Amino acid sequence: MRLKDKVAIVTGAGAGIGRGIAERFAAEGAAVVLAEVDPSTGESAARAIQGGGGKALFIATDVSSETQVQAMVEKTLSRYGKIDVLCNNAAVLFFREETRAHELKNEIWERTLAVNLRGYWLTSKYVIPSMLRQKSGSIIFVASPTGIFGFTNLTAYSTSKGGVLGLMRAMAVDYAPEHIRVNAIIPGTIDTPMNAVELSDPAMRSRYAEIAPARRLGTPQDLGGVAVFLASEDSDYCVGGIFTVDGGLTAV
Ligand SMILES: NC(=O)c1ccc[n+]([C@@H]2O[C@H](COP(=O)([O-])OP(=O)(O)OC[C@H]3O[C@@H](n4cnc5c(N)ncnc54)[C@H](O)[C@@H]3O)[C@@H](O)[C@H]2O)c1
Repeated sequence: MRLKDKVAIVTGAGAGIGRGIAERFAAEGAAVVLAEVDPSTGESAARAIQGGGGKALFIATDVSSETQVQAMVEKTLSRYGKIDVLCNNAAVLFFREETRAHELKNEIWERTLAVNLRGYWLTSKYVIPSMLRQKSGSIIFVASPTGIFGFTNLTAYSTSKGGVLGLMRAMAVDYAPEHIRVNAIIPGTIDTPMNAVELSDPAMRSRYAEIAPARRLGTPQDLGGVAVFLASEDSDYCVGGIFTVDGGLTAV
């Protein structure tokens, strides 16, 4: 068990990649807080972990809400007394409403940035003081290839993911002297509810699979190994790193 006695918060842990990471953290012995906006998926993910003998606590949280984030961190500290790991994962992608910049509705821009970027900052803002007190911690940002490369008709989402990498690097250099390490994971195309509409078309599905040199889509479980590595002391000297888990997508 590589995360025994650790306390980890995973945002957006009710589904997809967040759920996969939360399950893996729990399997490695961590007590996991599932900070999820959807109570039905958050509850059932927590119950599944508990049913398998793991420690899990669901706290209904919209990461774009400062008061909800603050309350979630307070509840975590009053239940477990510390926070060792924060995995910032919760994000939204409004596929159908995403457009080129001049066509984009203000509310799509604002909601996307509020969850995907402000949410990562807010959770960090309220978790970091407890990490500073214990002089250790690991913060993991789930980023995206869209934060590095240009993708058509993905204005707000790409901007948020570019911002996530900027925030990750700024925090990495600010907190490394205090033994808080901050790193990012870049997934490739992962089969999750976020992509469900796109991947429900068989032609699109095989196209996405073929683009990656590994010739398959990723699964939420594929992210678990790197997430555990970054959460554990094995990554003690990893600061501001970007770890791709993409079947080679960004290597070509
Ligand atoms: N799936 C992919 O192919 C892919 C690729 C690259 C990066 N990513 C990134 O991986 C992360 C997870 O993506 P996914 O595919 O698992 O997404 P998903 O939509 O399948 O799951 C996201 C989860 O976050 C929750 N969530 C949404 N808004 C929230 C909020 N305001 N507060 C709290 N929880 C909220 C959702 O309810 C859901 O449970 C995201 O940061 C995404 O940008 C995904």
